[in-house]
Amino acid sequence: MEVFSPDGQIRCEVTVKKGELYYAVNNGGKTLVDFSKLGFEVFGVKNYTKKICINNIQIKSHTETIEMPWGEDKFIDNNYNELIVYTNKMNVYFRVFNDAVAFRYEILKLDITNISIADELTEFNISGAASTWSIPAYQKDRYEYNYEKSTISELDHPIHTPLTIKVDNTYLSIHEAALYNYGAMNIIKTPNGILKSDITPLSDTSKAHLTLPFKTPWRLIMIADSAINLTKNRTMYALNDPPSQDFSWVKTLKFLGIWWAMYVGEWTWAPGDRHGATTAHAKEYIDAAVRLGIRGLLVEGWNDGWEGNWLENGDQTNFINSEPDFNLKEVVNYAIFHDVEFVVHNETVGFINNYESQIEKAYRYYNRLGIHYIKTGYAGSKMMINGREEYHHSQLGVNHYQKTVELAAKYHIALDIHEPIKSTGIERTFPNLLTREGARGQEYENGSLKPSHACILPFTRLLAGGMDYTPGILDLDNPIKHPITTISRQLAYFVTIYSGMVMVSDRPTVYQRRFPEFNEFLKSVPTNFEKTVPLMGEIGEYYIVARKDRESNDWYIGGVTNEKSRNIKITCDFLEDGLYSAEIYCDSHDAHYEHNPFAHEIKKIHLKNTDPLELYLAPGGGFAIKVTKISKN
Ligand code: NOJ
Ligand code: CA
Repeated sequence: MEVFSPDGQIRCEVTVKKGELYYAVNNGGKTLVDFSKLGFEVFGVKNYTKKICINNIQIKSHTETIEMPWGEDKFIDNNYNELIVYTNKMNVYFRVFNDAVAFRYEILKLDITNISIADELTEFNISGAASTWSIPAYQKDRYEYNYEKSTISELDHPIHTPLTIKVDNTYLSIHEAALYNYGAMNIIKTPNGILKSDITPLSDTSKAHLTLPFKTPWRLIMIADSAINLTKNRTMYALNDPPSQDFSWVKTLKFLGIWWAMYVGEWTWAPGDRHGATTAHAKEYIDAAVRLGIRGLLVEGWNDGWEGNWLENGDQTNFINSEPDFNLKEVVNYAIFHDVEFVVHNETVGFINNYESQIEKAYRYYNRLGIHYIKTGYAGSKMMINGREEYHHSQLGVNHYQKTVELAAKYHIALDIHEPIKSTGIERTFPNLLTREGARGQEYENGSLKPSHACILPFTRLLAGGMDYTPGILDLDNPIKHPITTISRQLAYFVTIYSGMVMVSDRPTVYQRRFPEFNEFLKSVPTNFEKTVPLMGEIGEYYIVARKDRESNDWYIGGVTNEKSRNIKITCDFLEDGLYSAEIYCDSHDAHYEHNPFAHEIKKIHLKNTDPLELYLAPGGGFAIKVTKISKN
C-alpha cells in the first residue's frame, strides 16, 4: 500500500512483515525513512500489535486553507492525501503533505476497555550518518538546555522533539502533533542503531493509561530541501482540530514586567525591603508602560508563597492572597484605567495538587477583577502529583497543562506557560494558549547561551511554535547579570523569535533614560503577523526572516548570527511594488557580543522591492528593520 503527497514527490509505503506493521518514506525517488516498525506493547496483553491482519484500506484527499486567529501566518495550507489502514488491532491514519508525513494510531476497543501502554514501538529508520540537533530528555531543567549537534550513530541518550536531522541535502524534523492524554514522545536510539519513540513514563512505569478506543498524537516528520525551508513548515497546526468555542476575545500582547529587576538583584520576589511586587512599583511600571506605548504589565512575586525557600515550599503557595504591600485589586483597576493589561503570575513550582485545588477559584477571581492573561510556571525538576514525582512531559503532566488551558479558556484568560509541556500545535484548537517557554531563554544569559543558540532555535524548538524568550534586555553591562549579545540583536529577537505574548524584558528606566533611541521600535514591533517569509539561514550559523504585520502594511525584518560576523544581501521581493522607508537598527563594524556590545547604527533609507539590501552582522550580533510604505511608485 502506498500514498503520495499532492505533488507526487513524497511517497509513504505501508506493509505487513511477519505479522507486524511497517512504514517507509521516500522523497523524490530516494529512501528517507527505511522500513520502520509501528505498534505497541501493552501491559498484561501479549503481542498486542503482532499478528496484524489488514481488514481494509481507504485513500482520501483533503484540500483546505486554515485561517489562524494570530501567529506567524494568517493562512496555513492543509493539503494532503490520506491512507487509512484498518487492521484487527488498530487503525493507522497516514497523511502525506508536500512537506511532511504524519501518522496516528487509533487503538481499537476489543475485549478490554482500559489498557496501560508499556511501550510504543514507532521507529524512524534514518541513516546513521545523518546530523542531528537535539536537547536531552529527562533532565532536571526540562527543555532548558543548549542544543547538541551529533550524528545518529553518536546519540547515546533520550532526546526531545522536535528532533532536527540533516540527511544528505534533506532536512527533517521529527515531532508530534495534538498531544492529549498521553506521555510526550522522546526519541532514543535502539541497540541496532534505529531511532525509536520513547514515550515519557509515569512513576508507575506505564507510558499511558488509556480508555479504548483511543487516538494517539500524530507522529510527524517535516521534510524540506534546505534548512530555511524547514522553518516554513506549519503541518503541526494543520494536524490539530479547529477550535470548538469562540476565541475572538484572545489578543496577542506585548508587556513590561516586574521581572528583570529581580534577576539583576535590584528587587526580590520575596517580601522585604527590596520587594519588587509592591503596589507603588506596579503603578510606576504601568505609568511607564503607558509612556512607552506597551499595553501590558507582568508582576511576579505578588502573591503569598515567595518567602524562604519557595522552590521547596511550593505546596504552600496561594494564588489569590497578595503580600501585604501589594493590592491586586487596586493595581488591576489602575491598569484597566490606563488601558494596560495586567499579566498575573502563578508560580506553581510543579506542586500540582496545591495548584489544582485553587485553580478554578483563582481563575474565576482573576476574571472578575478584569485580568485576561496569566504567566504560569512549573520551576521544579519534577511535578509533585498525588504524592509522587512525575515528569512534566508525562501523561499526568500533559493532562494538567491541558486542564489549565481549558479552565483559562472558560474564564477568558490567555496563557504564557513557563516550564511547559512542548507545543504540539494545540494552540490551533485553544488559541488562548498564546505562548510558552520550553527551551533555554534569556534568563540563563551570563555566558551560558552561546550566540549559536538563537541561530539553532528557529530550526528546532521554534518549529513547535512561539517561545517566550524574553527579548529586549539592553543593560548589557550589568555587573550581576546580562545577556552576552550586541544591543541590535536584542531588537532582532522580536522578529526572529515569534511569541504571541512578548515581554519587553528590561526595566523601564533602561528604555526611558538610557536607550530612548530604541523605544519607537519596541513600541511598534507587532506580536501578530499576516505572513512570515524566512529568507536565509543555516542551523547554528545564522537566520534571517521577514514578517508582515497583521494590522498594517508594515514589514519587519530580523536577523541573527553566531559568533561569526557576516555580510548579507537580501532582495526584498516579498514587498509589493512601491517606495518604502526602512528604519534599520544594526551592529556597527566594531561591535562585538563580548567586548563591544553597544556599538550600533540607526539609519533610515529608501527601498524598492528590486533593491538589494546589504547588512553587516557583528559576532554575536543581529539587526532589526521596520519597513513602511511611502508611496505606490
Ligand atoms: C522560571 C521562569 O522561566 C521565570 O521566567 C520566572 O521568573 C521564574 N521561574 C520564577 O517563577
Ligand atoms: Ca524557565
